[in-house]
Amino acid sequence: MLLLTRKAEFSAAHYYYVDAWTPEENLRLFGKCANRNGHGHNYTLEVTVAGEVDPVSGFVMDLKALKDTMEREVVQVYDHRHLNLEVPEFRTALPTTENIAVAIWRRLQGKIHGARLHRVRVYEMPDLFADYYGEP
Ligand code: NI
Repeated sequence: MLLLTRKAEFSAAHYYYVDAWTPEENLRLFGKCANRNGHGHNYTLEVTVAGEVDPVSGFVMDLKALKDTMEREVVQVYDHRHLNLEVPEFRTALPTTENIAVAIWRRLQGKIHGARLHRVRVYEMPDLFADYYGEP
């Protein structure tokens, strides 16, 4: 088995705010991120697939196809968007790094052919990232 990773980048805005909480509670947990006007990040996405190397092509899968799928299913939907306001999955879940990784997994699941989706990693900042390995 071999793991192969492809990266992509997107920029997006978000904020963290739980409507059921008081403004003070939101500020206590989320700090500046609770400002509902939002703020931006440059996200890095890493999608890792698992498979065997085809002895003839030398590939695990068609990497152009993987890039195209990431572009179509994720980058075109998230890039230069306000995640809370414009991306459907974040109307009901806060666009935290964790939830973004889960949402991207769900967007990619079943759309990658020739290899198995192994991990979705989302960097929100150089020192912060979330890894998702799918539902157990
Ligand atoms: Ni943020």
